[in-house]
Amino acid sequence: MERSLVLIKPDAMERGLGGTIIGRLQQQGLKLLALKLLHVDEDLAKRHYAIHRDKPFFNDLVEYITSMPIIACVFEGEGAIDLIRRVMGATDPAKAEAGTVRADFGLDIQRNATHASDSEENARKEIGLFFTDDEIFDY
Ligand code: CMP
Repeated sequence: MERSLVLIKPDAMERGLGGTIIGRLQQQGLKLLALKLLHVDEDLAKRHYAIHRDKPFFNDLVEYITSMPIIACVFEGEGAIDLIRRVMGATDPAKAEAGTVRADFGLDIQRNATHASDSEENARKEIGLFFTDDEIFDY
């Protein structure tokens, strides 16, 4: 069993797509273990995206992810990390396969509707940034 952190990003929140995207993941049999609406502050944004701190788009990314409340969730399932990344599609919506979340809803490489963990190690770190243990339901 794997867990992954999924964020519904500002561009998707703005267009009321949270339920649709979460529904697509639930339809794949993934179990929703935690969910919250939160306004990410600069410190959390910088820690979550620390791996990108030297990239030219880092400051824009921090500004974007802190621009309005977003939804954070934890999903669990067998092979959840790869499955969720397949449901989401490529980071750049222009390159995402038809029928994926980013092909259907992403606007551009930054405003790409969602974030999903890319490895078990990063999932553990990211989940720990957004949720305390008692906010994650084991059922
Ligand atoms: P995400 O999966 O949240 O992980 C890092 C984010 O950085 C990515 O989705 C995009 O939103 C953003 N990103 C990645 N590459 C670029 C880029 N070349 N220009 C702007 N933003 C990018």
